[in-house]
Amino acid sequence: MADTIIHQDQGPENAGNMELKDNTIIVVLGASGDLAKKKTFPALFGLYRNGFLPKGVKIIGYARTKMDHEEYLRRVKSHIKTPTKEYEQQLEEFCKTTTYVSGQYDQDDSFQNMEKHLQEVEKGQKVTNRIFYMALPPSVFIPVSEHLKRNNYPSSGIARIIIEKPFGKDLESSRELDRALRPNWKEEETFRIDHYLGKEMVKNILILRFGNEFFGATWNRNHIDNVQITFKEPFGTEGRGGYFDEFGIIRDVMQNHLLQVLTLLAMERPISFSSEDIRDEKVRVLRGMPAIEPKNVIIGQYEKSLDGTKPGYKEDDTVPKESRCPTFTSMVAYIKNERWDGVPFILKAGKALNEQKTEVRIQYKDVTSGIFKDIPRNELVLRVQPNESIYIKMNSKLPGLSMQTTVTELDLTYRKRFSDLKIPEAYESLILDSLKGDHSNFVRDDELDASWRIFTPLLHYLDDNKEIVPMGYPYGSRGPAVLDDFTASYGYKFSDAAGYQWPQTSTEPNKL
Ligand code: BG6
Repeated sequence: MADTIIHQDQGPENAGNMELKDNTIIVVLGASGDLAKKKTFPALFGLYRNGFLPKGVKIIGYARTKMDHEEYLRRVKSHIKTPTKEYEQQLEEFCKTTTYVSGQYDQDDSFQNMEKHLQEVEKGQKVTNRIFYMALPPSVFIPVSEHLKRNNYPSSGIARIIIEKPFGKDLESSRELDRALRPNWKEEETFRIDHYLGKEMVKNILILRFGNEFFGATWNRNHIDNVQITFKEPFGTEGRGGYFDEFGIIRDVMQNHLLQVLTLLAMERPISFSSEDIRDEKVRVLRGMPAIEPKNVIIGQYEKSLDGTKPGYKEDDTVPKESRCPTFTSMVAYIKNERWDGVPFILKAGKALNEQKTEVRIQYKDVTSGIFKDIPRNELVLRVQPNESIYIKMNSKLPGLSMQTTVTELDLTYRKRFSDLKIPEAYESLILDSLKGDHSNFVRDDELDASWRIFTPLLHYLDDNKEIVPMGYPYGSRGPAVLDDFTASYGYKFSDAAGYQWPQTSTEPNKL
């Protein structure tokens, strides 16, 4: 068992006031959809079995599909894993907390019918706490939020609405969505999920930066040459082409997930860990970022794999044959402030690539020349997934009688160091936060606005200029062929010293 010392909870200062409310009802709208089945219900079950849901919690599924209780439970269970008998029993208990109501998304009658059901479940309690989780397509966000307010808003107790991206397609549509939500749902009641903010490594960024003097002291343009944030998936848009083609990789993961990671890496130290202090700093750094310039961007779209077994993006029947939608993008963002001026933040995201990986790679500047010739740069890598780890690539003397150097690493691999601790799923962490009313890891309205401002000119430029077509890359490759030259042109230095590849340290014998 790892000798993990758990220090005091460094969470939000006001976390003490943030308690679970007994007898909360969680309404999952879109309960028969993919998001609910794959993420929401498994996360609710994970919280339930670990005793993290409020006492007396009830979960109500709501969707258009007409189905009986058995069919509903079959869907709820469809993505929940039960590796042991104990899990199976817990799942049966969990199922007793949940019921289903079917109804439309645009009719008062349907929501009044749900209201009757809610009241039956609440059995005349005076205080009613209701959380509405919208696992819904964006086309129905607005009508559903209005109907909920009109028909199901509790007269006492808490009311919260959880929404998922896409929050619009550009600055204007995001503002429109916000204007429509605003009269019904206050900002304090609104929880905008970006599930990357619930990932363990992403939640660690502020602790790493501000809880370690040696990182803090070098975290600036004097020491850091460039920062890369990479998101790679080994599969294409199979089955989701219809949705994806409307959005593309920039809207799908860069404007939200990768930008959130960038913001946490780049923001200044908040005055406290309270949600508003954190979010104030996040907004401040976003406001210091100019819009992305098209000259700092490359876009790609995947084609058939080299062995011909995997289809190209446009071979998907749900994708228009003339689609110019980027499935890969690399772009460089800058931050105009004292800490970061001139440091390129290179974002890379792609589907149908050679591996699954999300990581941050901070490359330090060259050490002063003189005693060393071409010694590789230090790199700090935060592996978000899979296999959460933090490692620093550093130069060291190769043990032996010579003064040969080698690249090695300081390695914190979670599986080894925290072998007895379970890493929560992002959705578990975020649903728990929303139940407690902690906004720290949710996107605030002004933050969303500031993020769209950075991407919208580029998105419009790509949408409007029909002559710009993405570069092809084979399914299963590293991306468009120009990628390495592109990153190198912003200063990133690739070093394959002694064939170094984490997690294996070079064992090259020393030469006497
Ligand atoms: C979603 C995107 O937000 O994030 C998907 O819509 C993407 O396209 C997914 O696959 C990645 O999430 P994760 O947690 O698997 O890295």
